[in-house]
Amino acid sequence: MELTAQYPSNIALVKYWGKKGQQLPCNSSLSLTLREAHTRVKVTYEQQHSAQPAFQYFFEGQHHPAFEHKVHHYLKAQPEFQTFLAHHTIRVDSENTFPHSTGIASSASAFAAIAAVFLKLSQPNLSTAEFRQKGSRLARLGSGSASRSFYGPYALWGELAGVPDSTDDYAIPIEEIHPNFQAMRDCILIVEQKTKKVSSTLGHGLMKEHPYAHQRFQEANHHSKNLLEVLQIGDFEQFISITESEALSLHAMMMTSKEYYLLMKPETIQIINTLFEYREATGTPVCFTLDAGPNVHLLYPESQKNEVHRFVESELRPFTKSLIYDQMGVGGQVF
Ligand code: DP6
Repeated sequence: MELTAQYPSNIALVKYWGKKGQQLPCNSSLSLTLREAHTRVKVTYEQQHSAQPAFQYFFEGQHHPAFEHKVHHYLKAQPEFQTFLAHHTIRVDSENTFPHSTGIASSASAFAAIAAVFLKLSQPNLSTAEFRQKGSRLARLGSGSASRSFYGPYALWGELAGVPDSTDDYAIPIEEIHPNFQAMRDCILIVEQKTKKVSSTLGHGLMKEHPYAHQRFQEANHHSKNLLEVLQIGDFEQFISITESEALSLHAMMMTSKEYYLLMKPETIQIINTLFEYREATGTPVCFTLDAGPNVHLLYPESQKNEVHRFVESELRPFTKSLIYDQMGVGGQVF
């Protein structure tokens, strides 16, 4: 028997950077769910009554002991999955449509898909709303940003004063979106394909003793609050300003932590500066954001697609190893 889940990645506009307790965020974060950049996880299982049924994990066709250990450990720690794990031999096959560990949040789509497929196998009769809420919470326990991939096109994770239902436990969908933001695109400019030197998990850890942590968490909540309003009123100028400021604040935290480090590459800066010049000259509503890596995400409305793609192909492609043209999506599915 088998069951598959396909869940997308998401790109944070307001960044989650710093956590406490059981993978709870130190500030709220707000993201755009993607469509093409996703992880597909297939679980093949058989009933088994031995004391320790086998659990195997294959990544892109290859047995992957490190992921196997990590995912099995995660699954065993969730009471929801215990019964299913105890009674089945399991083979997991996962694959990504984007390069692994490039700063594109592959842990977000992977843990969303893993949580979703095992939740469906463990509790097949939940309503859609219950499934998403539980799934988002379980995904969060695997990787914080994964909590947001259960909703789309926009999701908010983390308690935020004045926003009913917002919670650190799981993400919630953002319902009120102005038509200006209802068809957004994300062009992912890959400048580096190698595995990151400093993982996000270590980066989150460095926020514990960060001299600017308190101000940063306040700033992020302030940005979430403002961005929720901006998404309602359709103001691009404000969208650009919050999104770009968040990206640079995230990297500023890395550069100013006790063990400081830099993830931007020369090409990252060249792309950002070229974008600034282009926007200044043309007024095109397009902005950048960054994850915990050197790759650049360009965000723009569908209406600017041809214009922005011309710009990307003629002026930015030389700085990249590859490109992914993606767009916003609505979340994942289990089939
Ligand atoms: C910079 O969700 O990858 O992408 O919870 O340790 O798995 P863990 O971290 P992760 O951190 C993502 C950090 C970020 C910002 C964001 O997605 O909000």
